[in-house]
Amino acid sequence: MVLKKKPVWIDTDIGIDDAIAILAAMKLEELDIIGFSAVAGNTVLENTYRNARNVPYLCGKEYEVYKGADKPLVLDLRTSAKVHGNNGLGGVIVEDSPLTHTDKLAWDALYEACKEYGDKLKVVAIGPLTNIAITIEKHPDFINFCKEVYVMGGGIEKGNISPFAEFNFFCDPHAAKVVFDSGIKVHLFPLNVTHQVYITEEEFEKIEKMGNMATDLIVKMLKAVYTGRLNAFHQHDSCPLIYLVHPEYFDNKECHIEMEVDDKERIGESRLCEEGSINTVLHMNVDRDRFMETVIDCYSKY
Ligand code: BDR
Ligand code: CA
Repeated sequence: MVLKKKPVWIDTDIGIDDAIAILAAMKLEELDIIGFSAVAGNTVLENTYRNARNVPYLCGKEYEVYKGADKPLVLDLRTSAKVHGNNGLGGVIVEDSPLTHTDKLAWDALYEACKEYGDKLKVVAIGPLTNIAITIEKHPDFINFCKEVYVMGGGIEKGNISPFAEFNFFCDPHAAKVVFDSGIKVHLFPLNVTHQVYITEEEFEKIEKMGNMATDLIVKMLKAVYTGRLNAFHQHDSCPLIYLVHPEYFDNKECHIEMEVDDKERIGESRLCEEGSINTVLHMNVDRDRFMETVIDCYSKY
């Protein structure tokens, strides 16, 4: 199969961070987003499914969206409504996409897409890893087609929910463990790198002045959840997507990561281990200015 663009699958618990990342990715000309799967995380599945359909539709695109897990593998769902509002978009209402609904579920659709595209398909996961873990468990030969996944999650000696754990991994640590232990190589974009790509006041003003469909939505969402510190707002979920087009912005190293699922205090911790086979490409640094320039350039194209 000769492809002009990189086919991409996005698995998302679309809240605000995911939405601003997806809006940037939709304008990365080198990427061809072939499908979305929705997972519960920032908000309940009903909302993430709806947002994954409606946010691209508002900005002129329609994609297939498949419903995935409505709760983590083992734990109860703990959403992040305080940060992302009741609907995941800071309460901003977006018109419903008229796209036909499909009954096919995330893990079957993702499996079929990987079978079709092989390792050309870039699987990007920007929410809890529940859907990816279910795909691995339900389709044992999935790992023959999907060799790498690009994941926003975790933190090395850093957390944002507990001192040890980041939200996506805290939400579903068992799923993260399945993925790290599966043999699929994880390109990991932890808090250590995503915290480098915050939005400055100046950048926010620039985005606001663009006044297009996408930036109006971004501005409304960010204003809805603004707590007085704009640079506390990070482009977490954009990291793996921008990496696909601009790997030269990032510094990385191969390593072994182990997930903590037992210890009550440290649950959700992604631990960098000296020993153990390589299962991760760990991205720890990014050229912030070039990264933000690229993201802002994408927003200007609406
Ligand atoms: C991650 O958790 C969610 O709040 C964001 O969508 C992002 O994927 C950051 O910890
Ligand atoms: Ca997310």
